[in-house]
Amino acid sequence: MDQKDEHYFNEFSNSELKFYTVSVSLRKHLYLFKTATGMFSYKKLDLGTRVLIENMIIAKNASYFLDLGCGYGAIGIVIAYESPESMVYLTDINRRALWCTKQNIQINLPLEKDRIQVLYGKYFEPFNSKDVQFDAIYMNPPLRLGRKQFLRLFEELPIYLKKDGSFQFVIRRKMGAEYVYNYLIEAFTKQNIEIICKRSGYWVFNYLQG
Ligand SMILES: C[S@@+](CC[C@H](N)C(=O)[O-])C[C@H]1O[C@@H](n2cnc3c(N)ncnc32)[C@H](O)[C@@H]1O
Repeated sequence: MDQKDEHYFNEFSNSELKFYTVSVSLRKHLYLFKTATGMFSYKKLDLGTRVLIENMIIAKNASYFLDLGCGYGAIGIVIAYESPESMVYLTDINRRALWCTKQNIQINLPLEKDRIQVLYGKYFEPFNSKDVQFDAIYMNPPLRLGRKQFLRLFEELPIYLKKDGSFQFVIRRKMGAEYVYNYLIEAFTKQNIEIICKRSGYWVFNYLQG
């Protein structure tokens, strides 16, 4: 893990607090994101995140969506904008990132606060005691913590993902996209796993809950 990434998945960051603004056009709409040191890709939107956002499938009908490991909230905010009748949850373990996410909802979707929830907690922990199941979950996973931790999420998916729900995520080819694909078709069936696209060295996956 290099120096710039060392703290982005810690609950509290020790790095000096400096704010940045990332302005970016995604799916033909301009977004402004407040970011800060101590969180993932705070100087510009990560390329993997961009490839996921540009290619992810978002249902327009009222649905429950989760941006898992939201960072400063780009994925979940785009989903909330594009699916105006849906409930969107964004979660992370980095408090500084969650603070920015709340600011970014206020900046980009000031009238939509009632249907967007920002929660602190490890992976699905924030939903342990809640009766909520998602139509779709989206993630740019923290693979620097190891693939095993990411692959373990699939064991919990049947609890949190509705039948026929989808889990869409992005993995860099160099970070083991092919390994993950082979692992998943071995563990599930080929029908459960679709590769939405391969672009700029990133693979976007869609896992369908059977
Ligand atoms: C690769 S970054 C992606 C951030 C954001 N979704 C984006 O695309 O810019 C992964 C995120 O997962 C968060 N994370 C790491 N471990 C986590 C865990 N156990 N539970 C929830 N989030 C976690 C990190 O804090 C980080 O914000």
